[in-house]
Amino acid sequence: MSYNLLKGKRGIIFGALDENSIAWKTAERAHEEGAKFVLTNAPVALRMGGIKELAEKTGSELIAADATNMEDLENLIEKSQEILGGKLDFVLHSIGMSVNVRKGKHYTENNYKFSEKGWDISALSFHKTMQVLYQKEAMNEWGSILALTYMAAQRVFPDYNDMADNKAYLESIARSFGYFFGEKFKVRVNTISQSPTPTTAGSGVKGFDGFLKYAEEMSPLGNASADECADYIISMFSDLTKKVTLQNLFHDGGFSNMGVSDKIMKAFEKGLEK
Ligand SMILES: NC(=O)c1ccc[n+]([C@@H]2O[C@H](COP(=O)([O-])OP(=O)(O)OC[C@H]3O[C@@H](n4cnc5c(N)ncnc54)[C@H](O)[C@@H]3O)[C@@H](O)[C@H]2O)c1
Repeated sequence: MSYNLLKGKRGIIFGALDENSIAWKTAERAHEEGAKFVLTNAPVALRMGGIKELAEKTGSELIAADATNMEDLENLIEKSQEILGGKLDFVLHSIGMSVNVRKGKHYTENNYKFSEKGWDISALSFHKTMQVLYQKEAMNEWGSILALTYMAAQRVFPDYNDMADNKAYLESIARSFGYFFGEKFKVRVNTISQSPTPTTAGSGVKGFDGFLKYAEEMSPLGNASADECADYIISMFSDLTKKVTLQNLFHDGGFSNMGVSDKIMKAFEKGLEK
């Protein structure tokens, strides 16, 4: 259902890879809510093709940008304003990748070249994006900038590997840059801490399927889906959330405040009996 929540708003959406991506769902919802936006992803992801279909469906232009490359980001942010006809009201950073996870390097045996690359893509790229937006004065007053994160930034999830550290860094950048964006431009900056979600990035984590079930049974409302995450993102881009900033917002069916649930206890006891 559409409420015209983003009517007249312009933005950039990073990270739509395929139809499971949180950014893909967000682009579909933003289009329904009347927004105009540019879609961007790393050049290699654009070559894979799927995102072109999304661009057609939402009447959006595609601009390739490696989110770790300052020249790419400058080009993206300048061109987006030209295409959309003005400054931006929203930006979604929906990017994550760990080379250590991909190459199966255990946390206690991380390769630091891999760690640096993963940190640059998953965390520092958020600072780089905001630095370009800030210096180019590219955001409208009461605009909204969001990045996606995961609760491994606060609690131990052993298989999340160095992404846990990257997410902690990302959340800190949101607060630190959010201060300057708020003071100078009245722009809000937040992170949304999402439930485990079956996407390319999510499924890359070891033992993901078991963990998805565990989180589902632990959360009083069940896991939040990618579609539900897109709905929450739309509300955070809308004028209904103008004074929310510097926050890490849990969107996880209640998981983050649970100790244990009856369902998990029952499953555990059953296992002990066996
Ligand atoms: N899936 C989950 O379980 C889950 C849970 C919490 C948070 N998140 C976060 O949500 C965000 C989106 O991930 P997703 O689950 O939709 O998976 P996804 O794999 O669909 O999206 C990740 C995106 O990052 C892009 N990317 C990688 N390197 C890049 C680079 N150098 N420059 C630009 N883009 C680059 C990929 O092309 C891809 O589009 C990530 O930050 C992820 O950590 C995911």
